[in-house]
Amino acid sequence: MGRFSTKAQYFLDPAGGKLDEQSGKFEIGHTRASKKFLQELQETYIQPVWDVIDKDPILAMLGRRDCTDEQLFKTMGMFWQFERSVGALHGTWLLGYTFGSKGEYQEVEYLEVRQMYDEYKHARMYEDAMLQLGYVDSRKELFTHPWCQFSPEALGLHTFLQRLGTYPIAVRAAGNHLASEAPLVPWFERAGQVIGNPLVAGTFGAQTIEETEHMKIGEYVVLKYAQTSEVQALARWACHMVSTLTMRFLDSFARALEVSEEHLLLPVKNGRVDAPVASANGHSIGPVQVETPTEMVPGFVLPSQIVPD
Ligand SMILES: [Fe+2]
Ligand SMILES: [Fe+2]
Repeated sequence: MGRFSTKAQYFLDPAGGKLDEQSGKFEIGHTRASKKFLQELQETYIQPVWDVIDKDPILAMLGRRDCTDEQLFKTMGMFWQFERSVGALHGTWLLGYTFGSKGEYQEVEYLEVRQMYDEYKHARMYEDAMLQLGYVDSRKELFTHPWCQFSPEALGLHTFLQRLGTYPIAVRAAGNHLASEAPLVPWFERAGQVIGNPLVAGTFGAQTIEETEHMKIGEYVVLKYAQTSEVQALARWACHMVSTLTMRFLDSFARALEVSEEHLLLPVKNGRVDAPVASANGHSIGPVQVETPTEMVPGFVLPSQIVPD
């Protein structure tokens, strides 16, 4: 035993040597039939969210008659960032594929490649809507717009999902496809029905079928590959983490939607007014004064000055 070793085996030995009552909670001590296991994940992480989708405050806000352009833009801006980032994380996951001896997992790889196309297309649909509504002049504005950036909570969720790429494929499928995407499938459907602006409503509603497909990828992978108690325990843990991080993200996002434009952009606007006009080496680069010395740093030697001995 190492000096700081414990006897606790979080996933392998729930019956003995636990640090506390919680430490072994993801391991039930035996492997469940994968059909039963899928059912367990659905009942724990998907169905409860589906049951309360209509009570979601963000959905209620989007459906109100007095929903502002600002709130529509913020929502689409955040979803735009999420869709393209989630699409991109599948790219990093693909690096971690190790096929089984009979080619297992290759079909999952193909499903994920198709999913990357879906997610980038979803991001593009928000771009199209935001351009058509005159919210921005160009797509590239979104990449630096303050309302289209991840909050720390959103980054926490996305980073966790990306890091699932180092876990068994059934664990990442449970965490992402089942705990992250599946709960939101009816959300997209409802958004398509309640949002007053038909362009925005259609942008959300049109994603329902493809998000259902992504949920189905999760069901397929868990059914076929979540076949040991260790993998099932890790999958439970991943789902638990994802749903916790998702709640934190949605909470911070809902609060951001209530902050008005003048307060959110005030620091940026104030900063611009205060900054002086700038020039660097004779070129204007905006409202910042820059003086850059062009003399060589003392002691600097050009390659041509090196004399071989
Ligand atoms: Fe999507
Ligand atoms: Fe998706």
